[in-house]
Amino acid sequence: MTSATPSLPHRFAPARPLHGRIRVPGDKSISHRSIMLGALAVGETRVSGLLEGEDVMSTAAAMRAMGAAINREADGEWVINGVGVGGLLQPQTALDMGNSGTSTRLLMGLIASHPITASFIGDASLSKRPMGRVIEPLSAMGADFTASPGGRLPLMLRGTSPAVPITYRLPVASAQVKSAILLAGLNTPGITTVIEPIPTRDHSERMLKGFGADLTVETEPDGTRIIRIRGEAELKPQTITVPGDPSSAAFFIVAALIVPGSDIIVENVGLNPTRAGLIEVLRQMGGQIEELDAREVGGEPVADLRVRHSSLTGITVDPAISPAMIDEFPILFVAAALAQGRTVTSGLDELRVKESDRLTVMRVALELAGARVTETGDGLIIDGTAGMPLPGTPEGTAVATHLDHRIAMSMAVAGLASKNGVSVDDTSPIATSFPNFLALLGHLLHTEPGA
Ligand code: S3P
Repeated sequence: MTSATPSLPHRFAPARPLHGRIRVPGDKSISHRSIMLGALAVGETRVSGLLEGEDVMSTAAAMRAMGAAINREADGEWVINGVGVGGLLQPQTALDMGNSGTSTRLLMGLIASHPITASFIGDASLSKRPMGRVIEPLSAMGADFTASPGGRLPLMLRGTSPAVPITYRLPVASAQVKSAILLAGLNTPGITTVIEPIPTRDHSERMLKGFGADLTVETEPDGTRIIRIRGEAELKPQTITVPGDPSSAAFFIVAALIVPGSDIIVENVGLNPTRAGLIEVLRQMGGQIEELDAREVGGEPVADLRVRHSSLTGITVDPAISPAMIDEFPILFVAAALAQGRTVTSGLDELRVKESDRLTVMRVALELAGARVTETGDGLIIDGTAGMPLPGTPEGTAVATHLDHRIAMSMAVAGLASKNGVSVDDTSPIATSFPNFLALLGHLLHTEPGA
């Protein structure tokens, strides 16, 4: 999204039951990595089911600017011809990362071990997000950074080749930081090691191995993962099918759980254990979520999910599950607002540095819609309505989304389970991750039961 994108306010009205089948778009994390790794493999990588959201398009534009040929053949069907590990070229203009933290941090890693200079720019949301977490390890590998105050965008990165392999213990549970170091390690002589005390999404490891990188993962008895990558390897082009994004499916899963009479099927949902935390938590709350036709797509576990309206009960969410549902807390908060009793979350400091401060922004948004919410330093405590609709946002007011797609979609779902509807100030950020969200929602709202 660019600063010139006009705001698209929308009022989400109380809904009739949701019915029918939908298929959510491709996984955002896997789509980014498909383009990056395809762009480094010599030869033709074919991707189907690629997410064509703005964030992934930012990655594609950057990889093109550094020499890869990336072409769309049909809906979700893309062909990439890469430059080879170490072959990225000097981009001629600044790399515009739009709203995308994943593009920014992973590409900083890739560029860090190439002898090129790149400047990174982004929208107002991305320009507030901390980049020190990748600047620190990548500087230890030999890259040089000139960042805006607070280690933020816009920033200039001077990569180096050869870079120095490091052993780095992650101080925050972050797949983006882990991936940035592993991607820098791809073009670094010797072995680069990342120690991950708390497991995060493992798509980089799975895909790097799939592309033929020499990568090993050792798990210690306490669960700590030691990931080693040997650099300067050749990547072999692949044919990839991207599974559906569980983080996108999440909005419809919760919508069906909280709108009485709903019964839907969400097809092709990725269920990698490092991503499936929300489903486990919703089941603990009493959500009826059934896995149908469990299978493997693109090396990832996938199933169709049947979701029926359920009476939810508030719980205390174990903070240990947070990394496996880190993007799903905004929509979990909506489910909690409709549950019976109290839901307590904690250990969520990372939510304050996502596309927005998701603790404060969701507290304010849900309060405006009439929910009872208390914000603590590292979580929210929500007292639910026991299934009664939320009042909705008062006439003339709207929830502020702060350029955060997941706030917009979460509060859209809250509107469906409200008495008077919920107004959202700007739905345009939804296009960063889920361009057909409104179309799929319309489909579920207008399908007759049993159709
Ligand atoms: C992502 C990792 C997560 C997540 C983001 C995508 C990735 O961020 O929030 O939407 O693709 O690696 P952190 O690793 O910073 O938690």
